[in-house]
Formats: sequence, structure tokens, C-alpha cells
Amino acid sequence: MNAVEIEEAVSELALQPFEAEEFPFSFLEAFGNKSTTIKKLRSGSSNKTDVDDAILQRNNIHIATSEKGKVSETLDTLRKSPSTKKSKAEYILATDGLDFQAENIFNGETVACEYKDFHNYFGFFLSLANITTVKQIRESAFDIKATSRLNKLYVELLQHNPDWASIERRPDMNHFLARLIFCFFAEDTDIFKDDDLFTDTVQKISDSNASNTHDVISEIFRAMDTKLENRDRQNIKVWGKKFPYVIGELFSGSTEVPKFTKIARSYLLHVGSLDWKQINPDIFGSMIQAVADEDERGSLGMHYTSVPNILKVLNPLFLDDLREQLEKAEDNSRKLLNLRNRMSRIRVFDPACGSGNFLVIAYKQMRKIENDINIKRGEINKASEIPLTNFRGIELKDFSAEVARLALIIAEYQCDVLYRGQSLALAEFLPLDAQNWITKGNALRIDWLSVCPSTGTGVKLQGDDLFSTPLDQAEIDFDNEGGETYICGNPPYIGSQDQTKVQKADLESAFSGAVKSTKTADYVSGWFIKARRYILTSIGDFAFVTTNSICQGRQVSAMWPAILGDNLEIKFAEPSFSWSNLASKKATVTVSIIGIGKKSNLSKKLYGNGKLRLVNFIGPYLVPNIDTIVKPSRKVLTVLNEMKNGSMPNDNGGLLLEYQELNQLILKYPQVKNLTRKFLGSHESINGDFRYCLWIDSEKFKKAYEIPEIKERIKTVEKHRQKSTRKETKALAKFPYLFGERRHQDGIALLVPRHSSEKREYLPSIIVDSEIVIGDSALALYNLPLWNFSVYSSLIHLTWIKAVCGQLETRIRYSNTLGWNTFPLPTLTKKNKEDLTICAKEILIARERHFPATIADLYEPDKMPDDLRLAHQRNDEVLERIYIGRKFKNDTERLEKLFQLYTKMTSKK
Ligand SMILES: C[S@@+](CC[C@H](N)C(=O)[O-])C[C@H]1O[C@@H](n2cnc3c(N)ncnc32)[C@H](O)[C@@H]1O
Repeated sequence: MNAVEIEEAVSELALQPFEAEEFPFSFLEAFGNKSTTIKKLRSGSSNKTDVDDAILQRNNIHIATSEKGKVSETLDTLRKSPSTKKSKAEYILATDGLDFQAENIFNGETVACEYKDFHNYFGFFLSLANITTVKQIRESAFDIKATSRLNKLYVELLQHNPDWASIERRPDMNHFLARLIFCFFAEDTDIFKDDDLFTDTVQKISDSNASNTHDVISEIFRAMDTKLENRDRQNIKVWGKKFPYVIGELFSGSTEVPKFTKIARSYLLHVGSLDWKQINPDIFGSMIQAVADEDERGSLGMHYTSVPNILKVLNPLFLDDLREQLEKAEDNSRKLLNLRNRMSRIRVFDPACGSGNFLVIAYKQMRKIENDINIKRGEINKASEIPLTNFRGIELKDFSAEVARLALIIAEYQCDVLYRGQSLALAEFLPLDAQNWITKGNALRIDWLSVCPSTGTGVKLQGDDLFSTPLDQAEIDFDNEGGETYICGNPPYIGSQDQTKVQKADLESAFSGAVKSTKTADYVSGWFIKARRYILTSIGDFAFVTTNSICQGRQVSAMWPAILGDNLEIKFAEPSFSWSNLASKKATVTVSIIGIGKKSNLSKKLYGNGKLRLVNFIGPYLVPNIDTIVKPSRKVLTVLNEMKNGSMPNDNGGLLLEYQELNQLILKYPQVKNLTRKFLGSHESINGDFRYCLWIDSEKFKKAYEIPEIKERIKTVEKHRQKSTRKETKALAKFPYLFGERRHQDGIALLVPRHSSEKREYLPSIIVDSEIVIGDSALALYNLPLWNFSVYSSLIHLTWIKAVCGQLETRIRYSNTLGWNTFPLPTLTKKNKEDLTICAKEILIARERHFPATIADLYEPDKMPDDLRLAHQRNDEVLERIYIGRKFKNDTERLEKLFQLYTKMTSKK
């Protein structure tokens, strides 16, 4: 269960009449315990308690229900119970149905509330469901609640109004939802003068059977779109007149409302009863947008981008600099004023803004800095000079764009309340600005300068500050005349295989000839090239979160020269980290953050493992001080053996046989045994499968052709090759009994899969003998010296492969020309090779110990046998010592060394 589902289950439980005996089981069920687990607890077989009538689930919780008024004593008994300690219970919980108390034994945090309110503390207990990022969820408990309630309402309305569910009408439905959210927020924050005005009006004026709920809501919307002086003329109902006039897109246009069922009406009243003051626009937007998105609805936005991650983009992009300037200004009033003026002209632009979370956080952070300035200048309560309309975005989906606007409006109001007080915030809230500063559209087709013009001139620093105090001028960046623009965001990644035709065309149009081909490019690269063009003619920088695939493999040489050109450089980067994801068991995406701007002499910032390193420059592989781009090489650049492609049948299935087919043939014609061999490709080698192939040379051909079944197969191959439009394949039709490409060599060989899961700790491979033909879905190292296997199986080689070969979707794509032939090795002595051979044998022996486990079994993430992992670690240690005399600290260090060696190796050549 995810946090939203748990919240729903816990809230449901709180609504049920309290039953002392049942409560512990229902509580555990709400946190996702299976019925078999509950059954065992009920029967007592897994109940570890030593307290009468209590339930103790090992490693989790000790629960007891008590007599009325005895909750504190019962909690104390649970706390002192030896079983609580012995069974390592994280929580103790006691309740009598009126009072509810709990404690987290590990960190001492407590909850004490009325029983009816305990559902508000579901976040406190989330580790019961193995959800570990509890802190973030606990802080957004309201947003989770509101999202799940709105989701119920949305689904109910769609079911009852199928016409609103059509593609054409979905934007209307989404717009309706955005209006509702605004009303809920406004009625809880005094923006509507009376508390709960909206919910109360719907409850009192609409019939309880819901027959006219839509009419009532529609009238309220009509009122909010009508100026006060026009309301009589427009016959606005008396109860509608209590609502204020709200300008802007939100309430203009149609006031049609979907029809309500009784259930939908009760959902609406329930959502309205939540305290919307607590809404957090950083998070809520990302969560709520999932409601309107069929594919996302299951997760209900639980993978929203965390605030710390967004700050990893915004801080080095421009916020750190603003804070530094603030600190440097100390109490110098003029410097502070200059900084405030500068900030008022900063534009933040997210061209794939979703629900606007990057913009909201940038806005809130800037308001905080502005407030610090105002305090230092003694101008508390001063109206903000940072216009919301400086925070611009483009978003493809209409509902997300709408939520982004809403989130920014809410953020502005909350900042005004925080820094200026409720009454000033209210005085300036309505009417909303009519300007539309979040554009709905396709960012790769829109001219960014038209959506977010970098304002040109018109920025005048305060004359008296400027001219009377020349010493302060250094603080004023005259380049800022037109204002700075910072482009940021988390654009869609989408690898080339997953792009639609339209997206492929978008990319081509975005690059408009800047690269040879955009066929293999990730969709996200389109944002980089457009940001490049924008920044070249403006003041500012840009930074995106991106999958690291654009900094790996062939995309590096294909894209980066065009993105950077001669005039831009990578100013900061954080290579490869997991983009936080609150859904506990969902796979995380590995991403990089890259910040780019015009070339300068300043040091560049490389972040990683919570540390900052200043370097001279950052190359496109996000490695410090190296901008070499690795190119495929036909020859091995070191003393490693040559790695070849496997043998390709080119047979339309004629030369390959399944086990059963071969057996039947051998039963009939025992001589077939000598005409066949085992045939293995990538998939078979990893999963322990086999196929067979006809392996016939010219000498054996005549005899083989006498067997009718084989003759038929050979004819199939012949026909297939004759039909080919390729000259080379046609020529092969003369020898239909032979593989199209026959590269097999007798002797021991290493079979290297071309594609494999990125989740394994090491690259997979198997060692095969002469009897096995390696197919073309794999690569082969013939006449294998075992120390080559040691190198191939090392962590440092995997790091290189990930960086230079790149990935296919998320799988590793192994290339001999790009990854093996180029792999940098230090000089190896005879002794080094002997040591590595011993390590290789240790790995093979460890694998053998687990016979008949397949490579997939042995290298399954989290299940790798300890002895095998140890053998690999030993191998890593021995090899890495040859490079630098010790183990590398991390992958960045590994890559740095490898790129240094590569540069040396290739410059010599
Ligand atoms: C990875 S999300 C990031 C959104 C938001 N910053 C967040 O963290 O939730 C990417 C967003 O880009 C939008 N998008 C996809 N293709 C687009 C395009 N061609 N133009 C504009 N926006 C697009 C998607 O709808 C989505 O909201």
C-alpha cells in the first residue's frame, strides 16, 4: 500500500464505531498487513505480548485497548513490558475509544489526541508499512489527505458524467477541479470573508439529494466572474453576492458544472471540511496533477519531486549567489536596495513546469531573501517587489498548467501572510491578475523569447544610490540591465525508443539542423538546445535535471558539441544520483543535474555525496577537468584481447533448433549429433537456456543434405537469403548450410551479452568451450586469458561501460568498439596478470559453488551470494591497486583516472 491508500484506510477506520477487541487488528490491517498475518496474530501464534489482551507484532508495534480513562496507565504498562524491548517493537499504542496515545520507542516522539482525530497522525506510523521517507510524508500529511479526497470526488464525477470524461471535455473537468481547489483554499483563509463560505453555501442551498448541486456551484462561479456593481443587473442570487469578484482566467468562461450524485455531494462537503490553510503549494500541485492523469492516478503523485532535490538545481543556479550578496551587503542599506532591485528583475522560467513546483520554490526562496533585506533596511511589512509574473512556465497538459498558476497564487498569498501579516495579504489578494504567465503548449515548438522575453533595457537602478556612492557600484552588475533569466526544470526524459512520431518531429525542429541526426537523442536534449539559444542572447544561466543518458554513450559525441558550442560551458553538475521518490517500493530514476552558462574564468562546481568540489572545468561526461569524448575504435588500444561479434545465422530460423526438435532428429538420424552444436546468445547465457544450431562445413554438407528434414531447413535459408535486397546476403545464398557470419573459434571463450540489466552490481558473462557457438546477440572474447575475464568482471570496467556506452532505456548497452577496445588499462606486469588470473578463478569457483544457479540468479540485485560478492570485491581491490595503489573512493574518482589514461593513450597514438 502507498501512503495515500494507508491514509484512506486509517480515515475509514476512524469513522467506524470503536470496538476494543477488534481495534488492534483493524489498525494493523489499515497499514497493509495481510489477512494471513492478522490471522496468526489473532490465533496468538505470532503475538509476542506479555500484557493481557494486548497485541505485539515483532519489530513493529505493541497495541492495547484499555478501560475508559486508563489510557496513560496502559501506555505505561506497554512501555515497561519486557516483551516490548525483547521483540524490538518500534511503537506502543493505547486507546479507550475516546483518548488515543502512542509513542515511537526508537526516537521518543509521541502522539496524544482524541480517538476521533487519530487518523490525522497516520504519517507517524508509516514505518509500519515500510515507508521510510516518513519525514517528508508527515510534513505533507494534509496534501495527501486532500489529494485522496479530491481523487474520490473526481472519479465519482467522471463516472456520473461520462461526457465530461471525453478527451474534448476533460479540460473542462480539470478546470472545474481547479476552481474547487481555489474555493476551498479561499474559504479557509479569509479570502472569502465568511469561514467555510463555499462549503456552507453548497450544503445549505443545494438539496440533500444532490439534484441541484451543479446549479448552486455554477451560480457561485458566475458570481465570482461578475463585478460587484454588475451583480444586480445580472440577477446574481442573494447568496451568490457574498462571494468576491475574482478576475483572471480561473473564473472566466463557461460556468457549467458536472452533475452531482449524493455520494459526490458528500465527498465535496468532506473535502471542504479539511483545513485548506495547511496546503503546501510545493508539493500539493505535483500530487493533485496525478488525479487528472489516468496513467498517474494509481500513484497519486507520490513520486513528486522533493524540495531538497529542486533546491539542488536552484541553489547553484542563482539562489546561492543572491544569499551570498545578501551576506556581503551586511547592513549597508544601499547594497541591500541594489540587491532587492536586482531580484525584482530576475525571471525564473521553467519550460516544462508541470504543476509549477520549481517556480513555487524559487518564488518562496526569493521572498525569504527579500524579507531578510527588508528587515535589515527596517522596512518590515513592505509590499513585495518580486512580481509573480516573473515566474514563467510552459506546460503541455492543461490541468498541470492550471494547477501551476493556482500553486503560485497560493504561494504568493502564504508569503504575504508570513512576511506582511494576514490583513495586508488579504487586502491585496483580490482581484487576481488577469495576465496569464503559465503558457499551455509544446515547449519544443514555442519561441521561448515570446513567452518569457528577457526584458531588454528599461531597468534603471535608483539614481541616488548609484551616483552618490561610486564605491558600491561594483556590487551592481551592469550586465543586468535587462534583468537576468534563469531557466530551470525537470523536462521529460523519454529515450529515442519511447518517443512518439510527434515527439521525434519536435526534437528535429528544436535542433533545426544543429546536429547530424536526432534519431538517437533523448527528448530532454531538445530543452538543452533551446535553452542554449535563449541564453546566448540573454543574461543568465540554465540548469535541468536530466537522465544521465545524455551524458553517456553515443549521445555525448552527438549532442554536446552542439549544446555547448564555443561559447557555453558546464558551470555546475551533480552526476548520477537517485531522484527521490516517496512511493517506497517504486524504482527510482538515476539522474544528473547540469547547469550551463556563458564561459567564464570562475571555478566550476561539482557536487556529489554531499560535498562540493571546485574544478577548472567539467566535461560532458560530468567528469572534472576532462573534456575528451571517447570515440569507437575498431582495434583494442591496450594489451587486452580482441572482442568480436558473435556468429550471425541469417537464416530465418532454418539453422536453429530447439531442444525437442534436435532430440527428435537424433532419434531418427543419430549422425545429426555430429552436425550440430549448442547455440547461445545474450538471453540464453544469462538465464541458463540453450538452443542448438546446425554447424555444417563443406565437407559434411553432402551427408547432411541427404537427411530430408535438414535439406528442408537449408532450403528455407537459401530462399530467405535469395529474397534479400542486400547484395551481400544474396551472395550468402550460395552457401545456405553455413552461418551468414561465421566467427566461431575453437577453445575457451568469454560470452559477453550486449544488453543487460543496470541493476546488477557487475557485468554478466559466461565462459564457454568450443562446443558452444556464440550468437550475434552477444560478443565473444576467444582464446580467453583469464585475467581478461578479471578486467571485464570488475567494477571499474562497469563504471566505464555505463559512462561511455550509455544505456538502452535503462539497460546497459555493451559495445566492444566503444567500451572494451577503448578501456584504459595501466601497464600490467607479469605478476599483475597472475594476480588477476587468481582473482578470476576465485569468481568462477564461487559461481560453481552455487551450481546450477544461473547468471540471472547469481547476480540478482540484493540476492548475490556473499562468497561471490567477496570474490568480486577482492578482484576489484587487486585491479584498482594496479591503477592507483588503493581502492577508488567512488565512481567519479574511477572515471577521472580512466579518462586521464584514455586521453594519454589516445594522444600518444
Ligand atoms: C518530469 S515532469 C516535471 C514537472 C515538474 N517540474 C515536477 O517535478 O513534477 C515534465 C513535465 O513536462 C511536461 N511536458 C512533456 N512534454 C512537454 C512539451 N513538449 N512541452 C511542454 N511540457 C511538456 C509534462 O506534462 C510534465 O508535466
